[in-house]
Amino acid sequence: MKRRIGILTSGGDCPGLNAAIRGVARAAYEMFDAEIVGIRDGYRGLIHGEWQEMKRSQFSGILTLGGTILGSSRQPFRNMRVIEDDKIDKVAAMKKNYAAMKLDCLVTLGGNGTHKTANLLAEEGLNVIGLPKTIDNDLYGTDFTFGFHTAVDIATDVIDRIHTTAASHGRCMVIEIMGNKAGWLTLYSGLAGGADVVLLPEIPYDIKEVAKVVEARANSKKAFSILAVAEGAMDKKEAKMKKKEREAYRQETGFHGIANRIAKELCDMVGVEARPVLPGHIQRGGSPSAYDRVLSTQFGVHAAQLIAKEEYGVTVALVGNTITHNKLSEIAGVPKLVPTDHQMVQVARDMGISFGD
Ligand code: F6P
Repeated sequence: MKRRIGILTSGGDCPGLNAAIRGVARAAYEMFDAEIVGIRDGYRGLIHGEWQEMKRSQFSGILTLGGTILGSSRQPFRNMRVIEDDKIDKVAAMKKNYAAMKLDCLVTLGGNGTHKTANLLAEEGLNVIGLPKTIDNDLYGTDFTFGFHTAVDIATDVIDRIHTTAASHGRCMVIEIMGNKAGWLTLYSGLAGGADVVLLPEIPYDIKEVAKVVEARANSKKAFSILAVAEGAMDKKEAKMKKKEREAYRQETGFHGIANRIAKELCDMVGVEARPVLPGHIQRGGSPSAYDRVLSTQFGVHAAQLIAKEEYGVTVALVGNTITHNKLSEIAGVPKLVPTDHQMVQVARDMGISFGD
């Protein structure tokens, strides 16, 4: 049986992409007569016909490599069916290039947006398999996405390092953690790093409650405070606003990121020396952790097993301790946020961590 497989990586990169690509390729070469086509820069390459036949040797030595050997780009799903200034019909172009590459199937590695387009292509009759990657862990149907645990390790290391300098100087450090609209990364790293306050997008905060915690600590023997704040966190007033209204409100009030704002508010309200810390894309860089290498490899191999069975229109997932798959149509575009009654939220509360609510 011969299979020609196209692979692309789309959206924000994360550690483990290369390990997953390697997993698909190695298992495919082992299991059947495989030809692999690497598509450049995600859906952009599929639209514009930028691809190359890969050699087996190109999948060697990439297990530990961060980023993606195929390149990535953000191609918003909402514009996929929109003809823009370049006059390109993107869906027609992707179908045409899929046929031109003579693919038996397409493997797409990505997050929520990637899965929405993968589902669109499946609906258009292409054979598609998704692999769930993102440091945000916000994909429905899988307990974990690859990339997440490495980002937790990195964010935890940031918090640990900030902890020591915060303690030396008795400062209040406000660390802004990535995660888009989901608080998973902040919740895990906040707990792992022993944060005093954890602010999540899912649990709107009241700055007065945050100030109370910081003030109590400032007046105690432990004068410093560590705040792990999700980039998507918002206060109770903002949470009641529609997205556009919130954006306008933030523009009017000179918003330059949530950590900046909270640090300034705490300086003004409590009189502590509060500093924002923005680790930013460091959280997405570098080599995958051992956990993510294993998970990415398992996901990649599962994709190859699905190709062998010609089972398409699905995305690979981890449920419990089992690698499985879900129908693309059932998970595409469904975000997985932190439930406010999640066991880990309760664990954090029982540890005396404040969510500022
Ligand atoms: O989805 C991963 C992520 O790192 C989010 O946590 C973050 O909001 C976003 O991507 C940043 O995107 P970009 O790299 O395009 O600035």
